[in-house]
Amino acid sequence: GDVAVLVPAAGAGVRLGPGGPKALRELAGEPLLVHAVRRLSVAPSVGQIVVAAPAGDVEAVCGLLAPVAGVTVVAGGSSRQASVAAALAAADPGLGIVLVHDAARALAPPELVERVAAAVRSGLPAVIPVLAVVDTIKQVDDAGRVVGTVDRAVLRAVQTPQGFRRDVLTAAHAAAVDEHTDDAGLAEKLGVPVHTVEGDEAALKITRPLDLTIAAAILRS
Ligand code: CTP
Ligand code: MG
Repeated sequence: GDVAVLVPAAGAGVRLGPGGPKALRELAGEPLLVHAVRRLSVAPSVGQIVVAAPAGDVEAVCGLLAPVAGVTVVAGGSSRQASVAAALAAADPGLGIVLVHDAARALAPPELVERVAAAVRSGLPAVIPVLAVVDTIKQVDDAGRVVGTVDRAVLRAVQTPQGFRRDVLTAAHAAAVDEHTDDAGLAEKLGVPVHTVEGDEAALKITRPLDLTIAAAILRS
């Protein structure tokens, strides 16, 4: 494989409620992180996986992921962006394509990984998986009053894995001055064109308790 996948997994999971770091919370008897890494590891393009774990759980995560070949574990940071930067520093410099994938998107299928990797391999500097927005989206003011309705047709919900030429992701992180919720946002700041490929509903970000119920149903189906 010519692809390194960075897996930010150091978040607290506040919105999921009490129960420890989200990446270590269980779905069908296994931590979300194990589900995520196993799917990444079977994607043929993937040569290395670098997990940014909660700082206090690095040893435990090494143990959990020991059965999966090609995994490196580092301590994450206090923001997602810092966690990605820590993982990027540990990525094999010989791998020319770098994907960033949230542990919280534990059921992203290997086919999605391959789709993103193939688009970068075809020559695109930055590639993100997206889905059409199904809800009507409105802008509101501080009082919660509607300011206007955004044209849904031009909006996309963005998932991970996001894929980059290695030099592009490195430059984007080196130039970062403020916090972004995704890595493509950093590339956009540099003026790098970001292309989209079709996302996958199974790659939902497990964020709130209902998402665990949905993920369990996806696993059963
Ligand atoms: N993440 C990380 N380091 C942080 C914060 C987040 O590696 N300091 C990771 C999370 O582990 C997750 C991904 O970034 O895989 C997306 O973040 P999110 O879904 O917001 O997860 P949490 O930050 O854990 O959740 P919450 O915001 O509800 O606390
Ligand atoms: Mg968060």
